[in-house]
Amino acid sequence: MYLYGASGHAKVIIDILNASDVKVDALFDDDMSITELMSIPVKHQWKGESPVIISIGNNLTRKQIVEKLHCVYGTAIHPSAVVSPCATIGEGTVVMQGTIIQSSAHIGKHCIVNTGASVDHECVVEDYVHISPKATLCGNVTVGEGAWIGAAAVVAPGVRIGKWSIVGAGSVVVRDVPDGVVAYGNPCRVKSVHASCCTKRIAIYGAGGLGREVAGGIQRINRAGMGNWELVGFYDDAKPIGFKVSHLGEVLGGMDELNTMDEPLALAIAVGTPTSRKMIHDRITNPMISFPNLISPSFKVLDPSTFKIGEGNIIQDNCSVTCDVEIGDYNVLNGSNVMGHDVKVGDFNVMMPGVRLSGEVVIGNGNLLGVDSVVLQRVKVGDSITLGAGSVLMTKPKDGFTYIGVPAKKFDFE
Ligand SMILES: CC(C)(COP(=O)(O)OP(=O)(O)OC[C@H]1O[C@@H](n2cnc3c(N)ncnc32)[C@H](O)[C@@H]1OP(=O)(O)O)[C@@H](O)C(=O)NCCC(=O)NCCS
Repeated sequence: MYLYGASGHAKVIIDILNASDVKVDALFDDDMSITELMSIPVKHQWKGESPVIISIGNNLTRKQIVEKLHCVYGTAIHPSAVVSPCATIGEGTVVMQGTIIQSSAHIGKHCIVNTGASVDHECVVEDYVHISPKATLCGNVTVGEGAWIGAAAVVAPGVRIGKWSIVGAGSVVVRDVPDGVVAYGNPCRVKSVHASCCTKRIAIYGAGGLGREVAGGIQRINRAGMGNWELVGFYDDAKPIGFKVSHLGEVLGGMDELNTMDEPLALAIAVGTPTSRKMIHDRITNPMISFPNLISPSFKVLDPSTFKIGEGNIIQDNCSVTCDVEIGDYNVLNGSNVMGHDVKVGDFNVMMPGVRLSGEVVIGNGNLLGVDSVVLQRVKVGDSITLGAGSVLMTKPKDGFTYIGVPAKKFDFE
């Protein structure tokens, strides 16, 4: 037998195979510094040797390696495990010491049933699942592909755990858990959306012009192979359900519908005023909703290793930043924006097309910078200013006021 992954998890599998009189000939690992594990040689290039067990605890990594290797897989079942003759166990799966797998249970491929776990009658455990030590699945439980059931969690009869979800250690799960979430506690409740390979549905809040631009941007990200989003539609409190926003979708509801939705959904807030963006964000309380960055494939970063960005930002076409730039959360860069070295941008700012920020500029929160406006080097902008189109800001403005002109002066609306 060959093991792929020279980790602590591999050590347990070696013990299991030793107890079953199966010899481990070698392990494989990308880390060139590991040359042996428990006196077994570790090689760094797999040349078709088989059978193999992927000895890596991370479910997604196991799946990615399986998709690459195409070989014959073995299983490792410790002699102390009690496995019903009416249960089935897929290739690549490891069943550890002291587990009990009851009648008519089905365990998929490349799963881990960890020390002392119990899988009762007629459970269906799909591929790449990890049932952690002492976890208990009562009868007729279904665990979706890639899910991870934490140590000592208890899953009540008939419950379904969604694909790639995580159930925290010690949880008591009495209701179904949807796909792609982190859930824990007693009773177990969904706490957040898990960044997994299945959270690809996306909606846009805001059925106006910016909403249509963002919808087009999402298609472009998909076409460039930089995402795999399924745009399900738009949310907007000012438009009726079913309102056709464009050929790309219609209005599915407003804030109430968003907050009561029970499937994971990524959301882009496509509203162009900073205060409304924040207000909308603060009203979203549904833990199923996540806020990805939507970044045009044309975005250029001179030194990516020094670039930092938060979540929920929308970066449209032809924007560029140089080095040591930091962008916070929920900003809109509306196209052709340029940022020099050491620029720091806070949260909920909206920059219209053509905004240029010189080196070491600091932008606080909730500012609106007009079309083609410029902020000169080292100027520190606080919060909630409006900078008029074509203006050049040369000195620190006062929070909450409007500045226009070249050089930009405080504008009095009286
Ligand atoms: C559920 C889990 C994935 C969450 O991890 P996380 O997102 O990094 O969460 P954090 O550690 O940041 O904790 C966030 C909050 O949730 C609470 N929390 C985390 N896991 C919890 C759990 N299993 N049950 C109850 N509360 C939990 C923390 O106490 C913390 O609360 P606070 O904000 O009031 O301080 C993780 O805690 C867990 O249970 N993992 C399973 C571990 C396991 O079984 N390993 C077996 C290996 S063989």
